[in-house]
Amino acid sequence: MQSAPALFETALAACALAVEEELEALLPEAPSSRLQQAMRYAALGQGKRLRPFFVMESARLHGVAPARALTVAAALEMIHCYSLVHDDLPAMDDDDLRRGRPTTHKKFDEATAILAGDALLTFAFEVLASAGESATIIAALAKASGPQGMVGGQMLDIEAESKGFATLAEISAMQRWKTGALFEFACTAGPMMAGSATAPLQAYAEAIGLAFQIADDILDVESSAEALGKATQKDSGRGKATFVDFLGMERAKQEATRLVAQAKAALAPYGAEAATLHAAADFMIARRK
Ligand code: IPE
Ligand code: IPE
Ligand code: MG
Ligand code: MG
Ligand code: MG
Repeated sequence: MQSAPALFETALAACALAVEEELEALLPEAPSSRLQQAMRYAALGQGKRLRPFFVMESARLHGVAPARALTVAAALEMIHCYSLVHDDLPAMDDDDLRRGRPTTHKKFDEATAILAGDALLTFAFEVLASAGESATIIAALAKASGPQGMVGGQMLDIEAESKGFATLAEISAMQRWKTGALFEFACTAGPMMAGSATAPLQAYAEAIGLAFQIADDILDVESSAEALGKATQKDSGRGKATFVDFLGMERAKQEATRLVAQAKAALAPYGAEAATLHAAADFMIARRK
């Protein structure tokens, strides 16, 4: 029998394959083949596909048809990919390496990268609306992506480069918007599609989302570009406000571990059915990339 981490990694790999095929089928032709190529470059071929995994798994737990969930998962991944393209731009984090390859603005140029990001963002909503997805899901994804979600958090992250943060609560809030919001959407998409209560998976998502970003900040210090597929030792140089910066490495690791335990406790209502989500919570901080 496979161990829990192995079971999770098998499930994640299967999800990544399904999402790749769905993205391949969905990504549109564009009047500019350059734009089309840049969208494909940003969205296809790499990525852990964690957010789609949580959409698929929360949908499975709530009896939602996999085909419906896969469309939502692919739309969410388009938004995540757009957020990475823009995050890497010179005006933001100014990174040259993403997913083990040149960033989109390095492979193409800045204008193309900005437009490819814009195109992935808007196309995600076209896909959902055209598939007849509910207004609840469409509004929830828009909220998680926008000023009260990822974009709002990215702005706080950039502002902190010059202002810094005074308290741990401020850093937690920033991380919750910039990274947590898309994970919260992913984990609650299943119960939302089923019209069921979202509270247990919302609590799970809040904890794993924060643990995930703490791990991202830890990996920036402890990992290498070869292992991670993106530049490391960047955050302190840019004056980023991170948990590691604020708490120190040991306490940041303790906080991530505490959050994973908290996430697992939130899964109690699902019993043994949630075994894969338990393993997923462990992966959020055990991961090496
Ligand atoms: C990176 O996310 C961006 C953050 C929110 C820290 P992932 O680590 O999920 O990136 P991919 O999709 O696997 O490349
Ligand atoms: C990015 O956070 C979060 C996004 C919304 C894209 P980071 O700036 O820490 O992500 P990486 O380290 O570049 O992947
Ligand atoms: Mg950033
Ligand atoms: Mg970045
Ligand atoms: Mg980072």
